[in-house]
Amino acid sequence: MKSIKEIDISGKRLLVRVDFNVPLDDQQNIMDDSRIRAVLPTLKYALDYNAKLIIASHMNRPGGKVVPGMSLSPAAKRLGRYLEKEVKMANDCIGPEVKALVSGMKAGDVVLLENLRFHPGEQKNDEAFAKELAGLCDVYVNDAFAVSHRVNASVEAITRFAPLSVAGFLLQKELTYFKQAMEDPLRPLVTIVGGAKVSDKLGALKNGLQHVDKFIIGGAMANTFLKSTGCSMGKSMVEEDLVEMAASIMKKAAERGVKFYLPVDAVVARRIDPKAETKIVPVQEIPSEWMVLDIGPSTSLLYSEALYDAKTIIWNGPMGVFEIDAFSRGTRAMVNSVANSYALTIVGGGDTDVAIYDSGETNRITYISTGGGAFMRLLEGKELPAVAALNNAEERVEV
Ligand code: 3PG
Ligand code: MG
Repeated sequence: MKSIKEIDISGKRLLVRVDFNVPLDDQQNIMDDSRIRAVLPTLKYALDYNAKLIIASHMNRPGGKVVPGMSLSPAAKRLGRYLEKEVKMANDCIGPEVKALVSGMKAGDVVLLENLRFHPGEQKNDEAFAKELAGLCDVYVNDAFAVSHRVNASVEAITRFAPLSVAGFLLQKELTYFKQAMEDPLRPLVTIVGGAKVSDKLGALKNGLQHVDKFIIGGAMANTFLKSTGCSMGKSMVEEDLVEMAASIMKKAAERGVKFYLPVDAVVARRIDPKAETKIVPVQEIPSEWMVLDIGPSTSLLYSEALYDAKTIIWNGPMGVFEIDAFSRGTRAMVNSVANSYALTIVGGGDTDVAIYDSGETNRITYISTGGGAFMRLLEGKELPAVAALNNAEERVEV
């Protein structure tokens, strides 16, 4: 994989694929612009070299047709403010008008193409669509780590048509941090896995057994593990079909000497509701009409002790239903424990990053990934299709 740094981009037309799939409220205000800030190093570098900057992204899941509420124009405005220059919003991402707009660009101009997913070809990895996109540029730059697990035209097929395909700084940084944490970590390496479902994390758990020294489990997925140890889980969410699998994962962990931590107490309620009555109970004493919605205070203490000697921590997924105040303490305590540790700390995107921003601990985490699904794919030990495409592209093109 070639880096943008290794090639001459002066005055060239650069098509930079970013992930500006940022959360918007119902008035189209950006709720969190970290994905925009994350690619500024690449964009500013390109402008320093007087490139013509054509930026492409998807927004949300419009399903191959134009959905006005999913326009990228809020992102164009925000980006313009960060770059301190005009970002022209194109009305589409391909077609004659876009071609005309791009051919009129001068060195240092910035154009943001409209949502790639307004065309069905994007998610179908359609070659004709990819070819049209590639036709806009001299150099294709992938800086969209968060969508690199998708086999989409603007990250995969495009590398077969662009004259030259390289990686941007964010993509490189994400892969480098992850590699450092997973492949050659300072030990102990502790992986914290939370979230609702064991089924979503199965690949990550299995792959993790080969690498980690300790697993710490939280979120509703812990219920399935607890059930396999004989706990009655009341009305808690449990994946019954995975109870046996959970037991076998713990058995394998024991065989390998991987320490496996489960909650010892829980915050329970009769329903998921901010107003519901709550109590804290040992996991052996979950009342039959109640459900587990967060880890309890003894668990938070246990987990912070387990993190005490960690040199590397990878975290993905919340400890409870943290969107509701009454069930957010376990996740908040975990944010503090991770922030307070003396470890290299890497947190996967999705829910967990929101909890960290809310707690104001962003600066005390070594690296917060912009990727949710893409980060999970790396945890599973799998190659990202868009990264594979970049690796192959290098061999095909003479510089
Ligand atoms: C994300 O937010 O997960 C990425 O932007 C990818 O979007 P997707 O999950 O809709 O493919
Ligand atoms: Mg996603």
